[in-house]
Amino acid sequence: MTFEQWMRATLDRVETALEHYLPGTDVAPARLHEAMRYAVLGGGKRVRPLLCHAAGELTGASAQAVEAASAALEMIHVYSLVHDDMPAMDDDALRRGKPTVHIQYDEATALLVGDALQSQAFVALTAERNGLNDGQQAALVRELALASGSVGMAGGQAIDLESVGRKLSRPELETMHRKKTGALLRASVRMGALAGATPSASDLAALDQYAAAVGLAFQVVDDILDVTADSATLGKTAGKDAQHDKPTYVSIIGLDASRELAAQLGRDAHAAIQPFGARGQRLAELADLVVNRVN
Ligand code: IPE
Ligand code: IPE
Ligand code: MG
Ligand code: MG
Ligand code: MG
Repeated sequence: MTFEQWMRATLDRVETALEHYLPGTDVAPARLHEAMRYAVLGGGKRVRPLLCHAAGELTGASAQAVEAASAALEMIHVYSLVHDDMPAMDDDALRRGKPTVHIQYDEATALLVGDALQSQAFVALTAERNGLNDGQQAALVRELALASGSVGMAGGQAIDLESVGRKLSRPELETMHRKKTGALLRASVRMGALAGATPSASDLAALDQYAAAVGLAFQVVDDILDVTADSATLGKTAGKDAQHDKPTYVSIIGLDASRELAAQLGRDAHAAIQPFGARGQRLAELADLVVNRVN
């Protein structure tokens, strides 16, 4: 199977799983469920689910198990986007080529969409017959809770907001990026791996090293694209970081050094999964996708 074929098949499965784990609009309250589905379905690159699937293939995770884990990851990610776009945070009107949830609906609904998606992620992880045994469910809940909470994504977002207009040192910037974006990408790889046969400590360490590199690279590239790409390509407003005086890799080390860093992190990711040989092919291809992406 080529990488493109694998991507297409995996993305189809992810969409079906999201559809399955999101409440339908026939369930009350219909408007909230409609807004949740508006935010989640039919858009986004689904990088976290793709990483989760690729890692799950390494440990022989069942399709059902990685689908539940992927749906949970994407729901947390979308919740973070919905809140990130709200006026109290980045105040963005465009996301995935559509009006943001608070524009399409209203601010209170956007808050609740985020809240409810967060809870629904844990419903998916602990659903009956989702392919994960009790021990795996508990492990994945813990991974996702830590990655999305105050020591992970939400903590990184807090640092982001309190850093507006300040010049962060490079280590401070790295810490912020590893938390706000890296943590969930790292959890994507770990959760995929933990959804299968228990990985050895050394395999998990190698995957973790890979995920740390890809996770940081992802936000470095996000910072680059904010400067170099247009809104139509991105599906979100370009140029927002400079406009809001956000500390980013581009603002702190410049565009060329940011590009070099992203490429280096891509090489680090490849090096980390060397021990897996050909079995790490999808992860290697996904690292390239993250570094070379144009949106
Ligand atoms: C955007 O994430 C926000 C960051 C964490 C950088 P993505 O670039 O993965 O957004 P979608 O899911 O493809 O819309
Ligand atoms: C967002 O970072 C990180 C999240 C946790 C959502 P950004 O604020 O740079 O993401 P975009 O550029 O709006 O997608
Ligand atoms: Mg932000
Ligand atoms: Mg933003
Ligand atoms: Mg950004």
